[in-house]
Amino acid sequence: MNHAPTPAPSPANPFESSPFLRACLRQPASVTPIWLMRQAGRYMEEYRAIRDRVGFLELCKRPDLATEVTVTAAKRLGVDAAILFADILLILEPLGFQLEFARGDGPVIHNPIRSAEDIDRLAPFASAEPLGFVLEAVRLIRRALEPAIPLIGFAGAPFTLACYAIEGKGSRHYDHAKTFMYRDPGAWHTLMERLADATAVYLNEQIQAGAQVVQLFDSWVGTLSPGDYTRYVQPHMARLFRLLDPHTPVIHFGTGTGQLIELQRDAGGSVIGLDWRVDLDEAWYRLGPEVAVQGNLDPVALLAPWEELERMARRVLDQAGGRPGHIFNLGHGILPQTPVDNVLRLVDLVHNESRRNIP
Ligand code: CP3
Repeated sequence: MNHAPTPAPSPANPFESSPFLRACLRQPASVTPIWLMRQAGRYMEEYRAIRDRVGFLELCKRPDLATEVTVTAAKRLGVDAAILFADILLILEPLGFQLEFARGDGPVIHNPIRSAEDIDRLAPFASAEPLGFVLEAVRLIRRALEPAIPLIGFAGAPFTLACYAIEGKGSRHYDHAKTFMYRDPGAWHTLMERLADATAVYLNEQIQAGAQVVQLFDSWVGTLSPGDYTRYVQPHMARLFRLLDPHTPVIHFGTGTGQLIELQRDAGGSVIGLDWRVDLDEAWYRLGPEVAVQGNLDPVALLAPWEELERMARRVLDQAGGRPGHIFNLGHGILPQTPVDNVLRLVDLVHNESRRNIP
């Protein structure tokens, strides 16, 4: 497992007293930290104004604009961490995939993997230099953010990337990807190894550029049974975690993973991401005291009337019980139709309800 060391926090260093970082390390914090997946996105007017001018991929490739979007969202919401503005699929381009974000349709890969030979044709990825625009954004964001606000870097986990590379787009059943996995396990393992290696290089370079915590998004892994996860995914995840900088906390996130969380924990990560399909208290009990947890409000709760949203948010806080090591978040990204006011009220609620004195 990837255990981040636990440096003695010094109040003189604003970063080390950051509630978010302290929660990643399971240290008591002055409030329960909160940030939200997709906190910079279409639900926010400032984001839409920029997207009216530039396409999504162009925005990802313009470090100045990626910085503006990242920093504006973190400041406007008053959250405890910023997340790099980018996308998990960007890494597929330098590997040789033609990636497009068609308006309203989500991502498309025009040359998906169809055979074992396609895997042999993947380009090598020895350095993240082809994604230099992301690394430049990390440097610019780190400089633009207040020192007390940590920056989260991220990447897609190999299974989720493999699903996109094989399906060519989002999918309900991942039938192409899973059929490939069952039919040609040798080629599957080669693909997973290549993706894990590339992801480790990419994340370590984000860390070097200034990301203080990183999150691995295994968004679609919940489609697997525990047996298939153990056989086809876990060894690659474990290897990937071993390749990452041991001093940087890693958030290991997936959705629909109630059947997998112990296996995910065993693969690695200092924080396990939970979605709303599990009760946070029960899931944390199953995971044990050696990991922090992040989650797990249903993003749809942000569309509910305030009283109902408040009830659901308090339930998450109650289930965490104020234990060190809880990072409040949604179970998945903010939806585009979310009212910004609800997000602002949620951030205030979490801070006000969890404020405490720490030794
Ligand atoms: O959390 C953040 O604010 C950081 C930025 C971020 C984006 N995508 C920006 C984005 C992160 C961390 C991601 C991760 C990502 N991207 C995942 C894993 C998390 C998840 O949601 O499951 C996946 C599967 C993708 C692939 C992807 N990118 C999809 C399926 C889509 C289309 C869905 C949609 O909301 O349109 C995207 C596009 C995308 N990535 C947008 C944003 C803000 C919307 C693009 C737009 O402006 O139109």
